[in-house]
Amino acid sequence: MTLTGEEKIGMRCFRFQELPSTNDTARSLFHDGVLRHGDVVLCQYQTKGRGQEQANWESEPGQNVLLSCLLEPAFLEAEQQIYLNMAICLSVADTLRENAIACTIKWPNDILAGQGKVCGILIENGLIQDRIRYSVVGIGLNVNQKSFAASGATSLTMIGGRSFETGMIFDSLMNHLNLRWNQMKAGEWSTLRTDYDASLYGFGTTRQWKQGRRHFSGIMKGVDDSGRLVLDSDGQILRFHNKEVQWITD
Ligand code: BTN
Repeated sequence: MTLTGEEKIGMRCFRFQELPSTNDTARSLFHDGVLRHGDVVLCQYQTKGRGQEQANWESEPGQNVLLSCLLEPAFLEAEQQIYLNMAICLSVADTLRENAIACTIKWPNDILAGQGKVCGILIENGLIQDRIRYSVVGIGLNVNQKSFAASGATSLTMIGGRSFETGMIFDSLMNHLNLRWNQMKAGEWSTLRTDYDASLYGFGTTRQWKQGRRHFSGIMKGVDDSGRLVLDSDGQILRFHNKEVQWITD
């Protein structure tokens, strides 16, 4: 383990060769009083990398960026969590664009390059009453891996046709994460929302959706202040939390 620097997000990095999951290590190091705001846990390989909905997260040793940031967004109310989500997604998108990789954000927090998923984000919050006490932000960014067991996954190298320096991608990500964090801290909600909407996969287009057994078409209008997806279905505005509605067609 190497410890470096202080202050900004990513200035103190705890580097490991192998961990079960950076999210789990970050949370337990925080509870042990070792981690503080801005600290990052990084590793080369995860034996039990976790994705959303208990899925595992696949990543070959040393090929990708696997990290968890410990953040303390004390200024955010629990119902403003969507802005943390937006800031994280946008920082990944900013990083990719800085590296000439076009990308979109698939609501709520998948980053797509081409039609493939290039980055997954797993945010796990510790709440005290209506405040976020701490947030473990896990980011798995596929950089140099060339093939995946999971269908639909891609990487910077598969899109960009060259290899990338994972250390440089990490530095770029930390830079953008700090910029977006500062926007959030300054309460620049409309900037975050406008930028998020502008990056949203399918924004402004009509898609087929499924809610339970009901199929309907709706225009994607964006995301509201509660993080709900807003659809316009024949002039009726519908709002959905994550998992309440599914895409049928891409
Ligand atoms: C998803 O399913 O889209 C979220 C994937 C999140 C993967 C990252 S890799 C680093 C961190 N540690 C984990 O165990 N998961 C996240």
